[in-house]
Amino acid sequence: MSLFIGRDLKEEQDIYIEGNKSRSILICGKRGSGKSYTMGNIIEDIYGDKDKLIIIIDPMGIYHTMVEPNYIQTQTLNSWGFNPKGYSVKILVAGDPVQNYAFGEENILDRMKQRGVNFGSFRVNPSDLSADGWCDFFDLSMTDVQGICLFRAIQNLNRRRGVHFYLSDIINEIEMDTKVVDRTKEALLNRLEWAESLNIFSTNYQELLSVFERDYINIIDMKSLDPGRYNLRNLIVSILAKQLFKARLKARAMEELELATDIPKVWLAIDEAHQFAPSGKSTLSKEHLIRFVKEGRQPGLSLIISSQQPSAIDSDILSQCDLIICHKLTSKEDIQSLNALSADYMGNELKTFIKKISRCGEAVIVDDEKEKVAIIGIRPRKSKHGGGES
Ligand SMILES: Nc1ncnc2c1ncn2[C@@H]1O[C@H](COP(=O)(O)OP(=O)(O)OP(=O)(O)O)[C@@H](O)[C@H]1O
Ligand SMILES: [Mg+2]
Repeated sequence: MSLFIGRDLKEEQDIYIEGNKSRSILICGKRGSGKSYTMGNIIEDIYGDKDKLIIIIDPMGIYHTMVEPNYIQTQTLNSWGFNPKGYSVKILVAGDPVQNYAFGEENILDRMKQRGVNFGSFRVNPSDLSADGWCDFFDLSMTDVQGICLFRAIQNLNRRRGVHFYLSDIINEIEMDTKVVDRTKEALLNRLEWAESLNIFSTNYQELLSVFERDYINIIDMKSLDPGRYNLRNLIVSILAKQLFKARLKARAMEELELATDIPKVWLAIDEAHQFAPSGKSTLSKEHLIRFVKEGRQPGLSLIISSQQPSAIDSDILSQCDLIICHKLTSKEDIQSLNALSADYMGNELKTFIKKISRCGEAVIVDDEKEKVAIIGIRPRKSKHGGGES
């Protein structure tokens, strides 16, 4: 599978990304420089391979427009030898799609369905989060009395119930804890009741990975999830990255023995990735993403991350990226963080290439696989780009 990304502006050569192997791709550039557009381009070409599972983490809620052909650029597309094209899109929402995606307006959902968008819903199994994950979720230290009590409750439930326990069970466990005072219990119960009110936690065990379909671009829409409060977005990405890793590890072992598996190779694309793997602070999802990218090659996991601020992404993740697509970038700090990744074959430093980018739709591509660096014009999108401002 070769992913057609654009044309080398100097050598007038088509540029492809080798997509059969696992890749870790960083797309960066300042605001409005074309990152999300480019991420959509890569997804369009991966979609051609039916043996891959595509999942987009979409914090801005912009990728659903991939269902529609990009008629606005018909002429440009034709000049590149393409036609506008829409793709099968499935939006996955944590909890009820009407409430948690469509602001309670059934009409919004109906109209999107008429346009061809499919919807699915998933819930988070409380048991998919470890005992320390639960403490992190509520920002509790494990030396804090609340942290100790919560950790103990989850550990007990894990031991007794395996994966089959729910928020009501955690609440019961805490109520029955005789080692803590009522005030501690009450503070914890308030947090758990708030979690219950979100309606995103399951009351029946559901395999998270069962909601994704390989014939679709699976989009986890996060725009309605408050990024601040207890970091719900991180919670979902952490569980997803962990489960994809586990599932593909098992699938790889089975594939090697020529046994049938139901989890194909995965491409996980994360827009605004600094939210999930920031440098200098820990989040629920960071360690799982680091493992995904560091150890994911062999089990067939690929990652695409996009960010305005590469310097704000954890260096363990940045250093694993084997392909960089850098759009216009002006911040010194960001250019420096990329320059630090410069490989020997570049000769010139990356920053000298970055300075040559003159407009939106151009980028420097640094491909470790091909040991090549070039300034390219990004090919036009076949499907509609949804990042426009109102
Ligand atoms: N290769 C391209 N060809 C033509 N138009 C493009 C191209 N790339 C981006 N654009 C246009 O530029 C605008 C900004 O693009 P995009 O939303 O991808 O930027 P971004 O870098 O993701 O911005 P942000 O940091 O705000 O998320 C959009 O209106 C898009 O249609
Ligand atoms: Mg964007």
